[in-house]
Amino acid sequence: MDYSDKVMDHFSNPRNVGEIENPDGLGEAGNPKCGDIMKIYLKVKDGPGGAVIEDVKFKTFGCASAIASSSMATEMIKGKTVDEAWAMTNVAVAEALDGLPPIKMHCSVLAEEAIHKAINDYREKHGLEVIPIREFDHESAPRA
Ligand code: FES
Repeated sequence: MDYSDKVMDHFSNPRNVGEIENPDGLGEAGNPKCGDIMKIYLKVKDGPGGAVIEDVKFKTFGCASAIASSSMATEMIKGKTVDEAWAMTNVAVAEALDGLPPIKMHCSVLAEEAIHKAINDYREKHGLEVIPIREFDHESAPRA
């Protein structure tokens, strides 16, 4: 399988691995088909332009693409507002990695889902409305 240099880099040298104690938001996503699991921990701080993701860490038990996607996704949302982070799609993560093989696109979905769940956890704790998460059928063909 052909992986881009960026995928190989983020897989071999992943950024933001670990946990945050008492996170402001915690999200977990899993793919029942391959059994891979991703956890995202958020530290959120209020700023003039809205709540900002001050720190983010991940723990992923999964394939190379899932680890590379977690690493890239955490880099992409660090320092962004919570709303900006919500807008990041799995496709944007895959593009930032210079692409994933088509059968590996579903691995990037875990990053989008885990971040959305972590943001919703944060929102719930702050009395904000939980946003519906877009459904992805992990059993079906990979989403592009
Ligand atoms: Fe399961 Fe990549 S094969 S997330």
